[in-house]
Amino acid sequence: MPKKNTVATLLAMKGQEKITQLTCYDYTTARLIDSAGINTILVGDSLGMTMQGYEDTLPVTMEEMILYGRSVCRGCKDAFVIMDMPFMSYQVSVEQAVANAGRLIKECCANAVKLEGGSQVCRQIEAITACGIPVCAHIGMTPQSVNAFGGFKVQGKGEDNARRVLEDALAVEKAGAFMVVLECIPPKLAALITKKTKMITIGIGGGAGCDGQVLVYQDMLAMGDFKPKFVKHFAQIGQQMKDAFQAYSQQVKDGSFPEEIHTYAKSDCSDAFLAQLDAEY
Ligand code: KIV
Repeated sequence: MPKKNTVATLLAMKGQEKITQLTCYDYTTARLIDSAGINTILVGDSLGMTMQGYEDTLPVTMEEMILYGRSVCRGCKDAFVIMDMPFMSYQVSVEQAVANAGRLIKECCANAVKLEGGSQVCRQIEAITACGIPVCAHIGMTPQSVNAFGGFKVQGKGEDNARRVLEDALAVEKAGAFMVVLECIPPKLAALITKKTKMITIGIGGGAGCDGQVLVYQDMLAMGDFKPKFVKHFAQIGQQMKDAFQAYSQQVKDGSFPEEIHTYAKSDCSDAFLAQLDAEY
């Protein structure tokens, strides 16, 4: 019997059962993901790429996050919904971070917010959690820093960088985060962080040692051309959609769709009346 996932139920799963997470940006997909029993949904700012066609997540605004997030939340019964805070919605000041986190919760009915960064965003995490808003942190390869990284590159390589990523994890935990996304870091480092923290670790390119996994749903369904090393295709939905669109096009053009069963023929007036209408007009 599925039940609503909460911070408490998710934390109780650490070390007992793996936690599942998928991104989602719309109502229809949210209903499908929720009914499949996925524990948590992330309304990621990756929507800038998957839904809006940008090269990265940087252009996404608060208004756009709210628009997509509302639709997702309306489609969820049991999944715990986490909303990404978009670029520059939390970096400028702690006050602005709190106000924007509050908007995502109030205006979308989301359950938690996610923001990127380690020790540099701890003051924001402390202030947001002090308002009773659960926070998921995000460290390692943080896509909003793509320009600083010089591309979407693996982080935590080498001893100094590995230490820095571990220290970031411990810092966001101390600040109050209950969950942390570990993106594109080596698997033994991710497993060590998972061992060293009481937070739930969610890996994306972090290996199987994390408490849970997240994927962008269009990536795992092979709906786009993008396939990083950490993505597995669980179905070829992109090809199936393309085949269906082509079949539809062909059948409309050759007249084999719609058939009589797709019409309201029973509601038609008599041929005599239609002939009269034909003559009148
Ligand atoms: O925006 C997003 O979808 C994310 C995940 C890739 C973790 O941050």
